Amino acid sequence: MADLFAKIENMGPIGQYNKQVHGYFTFPKLEGEISNRMIFQGKERVIWSLNNYLGLANHPEVRAADADAAAQFGMAYPMGARMMSGNSNYHEQLENELAAFVGKEAAYLMNFGYQGMASIVDCLLSRRDVVVYDAESHACIIDGLRMTNAHRFVFKHNDVEDCEKQLQRATEMVAKSGGGILLITEGVFGMAGDMGKIKEICALKAKYDFRILLDDAHGFGTMGETGAGVGEEQGCQDQIDVYFSTFAKSMAGIGAFVAGNADLVNYLQYNLRSQIFAKALPMPMVIGAIKRLELLRTKPELKDKLWQNVHALQSALKEAGFNIGKTDTCVTPVYLQGGVIEATNLTVDLRENYNIFCSIVTYPVIPKGHIILRLIPTAMHTQQDIDETIVAFKAVKHKLDEGLYPKEIPPVMEAVG
Ligand SMILES: Cc1ncc(COP(=O)(O)O)c(C=O)c1O
Repeated sequence: MADLFAKIENMGPIGQYNKQVHGYFTFPKLEGEISNRMIFQGKERVIWSLNNYLGLANHPEVRAADADAAAQFGMAYPMGARMMSGNSNYHEQLENELAAFVGKEAAYLMNFGYQGMASIVDCLLSRRDVVVYDAESHACIIDGLRMTNAHRFVFKHNDVEDCEKQLQRATEMVAKSGGGILLITEGVFGMAGDMGKIKEICALKAKYDFRILLDDAHGFGTMGETGAGVGEEQGCQDQIDVYFSTFAKSMAGIGAFVAGNADLVNYLQYNLRSQIFAKALPMPMVIGAIKRLELLRTKPELKDKLWQNVHALQSALKEAGFNIGKTDTCVTPVYLQGGVIEATNLTVDLRENYNIFCSIVTYPVIPKGHIILRLIPTAMHTQQDIDETIVAFKAVKHKLDEGLYPKEIPPVMEAVG
């Protein structure tokens, strides 16, 4: 018999390097006001890794709304789960405003996107149902699937032909089981930045009987004429049966919501385990979200500025010869070739010598030999941030291509003191 804790010696694919990377690559502390430039390891850097798309995190009206709500209600109110003792007029007001904004009859708040999505998936599926989902679905969708015993068919990422094939298989299966079909995909895929082919998938409803659940975490606030997301962008919002977004990105808050027709939302209110068995969102988060939604709706200049920066950054990267893949959204990946050790040295070089802080993705998350630098432009960024970043990226790519980086993991902690 083994000690249950024997397994913790194996820290996992990233955790095994924790001694070298903790505090620098993992668990870094970004200090100062949330903005385009923040303090990392005591020095100001251009920050490209926050999903603060519209710059609402530190907007003075948002800060004032958050502070006023905290002063009036504290962080404890309301006590209890929504269903039992944790409801309020503010929670319902936010739900009504969100539903109207995304063009649905009703909406329901959730405390976290991750838990909320997992719970929705669990709640909508039973043993006889079949789920058809994109191969690159976010962990919250995959973890929701782990909770259900519905049959699963996965389709190749954003491949409508394969999606149809899986819908055919699902249709044959439910003909026997007597269940229904749920199709799950995303509005914007957060790693590569490609938009889900939602309109084409919706068109398959003419041939197959299924419901669509859309995770629009990166699309809400950034896509569509009014910012109502990828359904609006592609003109198929009315075809999306269950619309989901988190407040963790454009809304620069915490929490999430799900929207759909009134009967569906009513069902979720009484069956969504993540909310029935959890305390309601505290009042400052709710009142703060009402203010964020108001700004998102009434200040289109924020989204315009965001997209101005997205276009400026992406065209400058392309002009400088960088491969940014197939992004057609704000998420901006830069694909490079190199091993993990080179990637580590390159990142330290970017941060220490050029003051550029962005997220980096390497093996084992992506195949060996590939590096992705992931940039999230926001409405806060300036042309100067973009110019400095391009200069830095050109310099580090040159060093990478010429094999100039050391062949050992950099002594990060020593380097930064
Ligand atoms: C696509 C997607 N879905 C869901 C979530 C989870 O949201 P939250 O941070 O509110 O738990 C995220 C990350 O925030 C995400 O990127």
